[in-house]
Amino acid sequence: MLRPPWVVLRTYATDDHTNITPAIISKLGIQLHSQPGHPLTTVKNLVESQFSDYAHLSSFSPLVTPAKNFDELSFPPDHPGRAVTDSYYVNRGLMLRTHTSAHEVEVFAQGHDKWLLTADVYRRDEIDASHFPVFHQMEGARLFPTGSRGLQELKKDNAILEKALSLENIKIEDNTSITPENPYQDVHDPYEAQAVTTNLKLSLNALMLRLFAGAGGISRQNPLHVRWIEAFFPFTSPSYEVEVFFQGKWLEILGCGVVRHSTLDRANIHGKIGWAFGLGLERIAMILYSIPDIRLFWSNDARFLSQFTPGKISTFQPYSKYPPCYKDVSFWLPPTGLHDNDVCDLVRVVAEDFAENVERTDSFSHPKTKRNSVCYRINYRSLSNAEANEIHSRVKSRLVEQFGVEIR
Ligand code: DAH
Repeated sequence: MLRPPWVVLRTYATDDHTNITPAIISKLGIQLHSQPGHPLTTVKNLVESQFSDYAHLSSFSPLVTPAKNFDELSFPPDHPGRAVTDSYYVNRGLMLRTHTSAHEVEVFAQGHDKWLLTADVYRRDEIDASHFPVFHQMEGARLFPTGSRGLQELKKDNAILEKALSLENIKIEDNTSITPENPYQDVHDPYEAQAVTTNLKLSLNALMLRLFAGAGGISRQNPLHVRWIEAFFPFTSPSYEVEVFFQGKWLEILGCGVVRHSTLDRANIHGKIGWAFGLGLERIAMILYSIPDIRLFWSNDARFLSQFTPGKISTFQPYSKYPPCYKDVSFWLPPTGLHDNDVCDLVRVVAEDFAENVERTDSFSHPKTKRNSVCYRINYRSLSNAEANEIHSRVKSRLVEQFGVEIR
């Protein structure tokens, strides 16, 4: 696999902050979200298709300064996320980004007004079925000019989005309000801030539809439920979280808000106002594909990746933790011969679902005796080798008993 240039090993100074481990280093540059057919890639593409006229960015190095990850986004100096217990540090001056927001200032400074950015992010955390120290996020943002030109653009866009959403099977629960804890920013014209907040909500409701409307029997009678909740992020105000009701539970999907003026100031962007969001790809992919364990995304087992079609969401088919286990059986056929299907049926009876595949791999006719010999290869799944051997020997005895074959 070709790894991006910043993975090329360099020697970095270490200090009292260094806590990056070989296991984490081994994940750098793998870019699961760019592997064709990988569920993370398909979900990423789905989000990109919803924002098709945005810049789609994905090649930023995960190594960032703490200034970029935290200070540029107005995180206070004592924010717990900065602790070595929560984040991975190469040294005091260099860390692995903990969120895609770390690139906001950089991307705004490049002049992008509408963009999506996909990347691997790193957080020290327990490891279980839903937590892994490396996961993937997408950041999205849109800026509008301040003043009448921006307002015009906002009004037009909001009207289009509102109309489109009104025709869809979606029910939006939004009891949020502007409060002293979650205010419009002083520097903003409240009328403009309101129009941007509305645009944020409409745009993300449309994204929720794009992601979830195809799954789980959404209909007129059973619309998609989306819920808006007030939140706090140091780099947005007002701030929100979006949840979706799916298979009986409210699931947190993303964080978002109106971009802090100071963020745009740092990017040297003036006369603009806009929104941003950040979502976790694994969470969404686990829901859409029914993938039960976050560690499966990293699987090198061909049975993981090979079951997915690029661009198509399908239900994950669990497989055993044991590798495929092939056993051969060769025998002389009885004079009456034997059909492949007879062999398959016999294997099915003896091995039940443990035999995943039966294949005739050889046939041979003895030149003198004219006797015919065949070889079948059986792939036993969900079994240890010892268990497979046991079942395989029962298959052999049964072939002798039932069809009078002579095992070679
Ligand atoms: N970076 C936040 C996180 O990882 C998510 C987020 C919240 C991104 C609000 C945003 C935003 O762009 O506006 O939890």
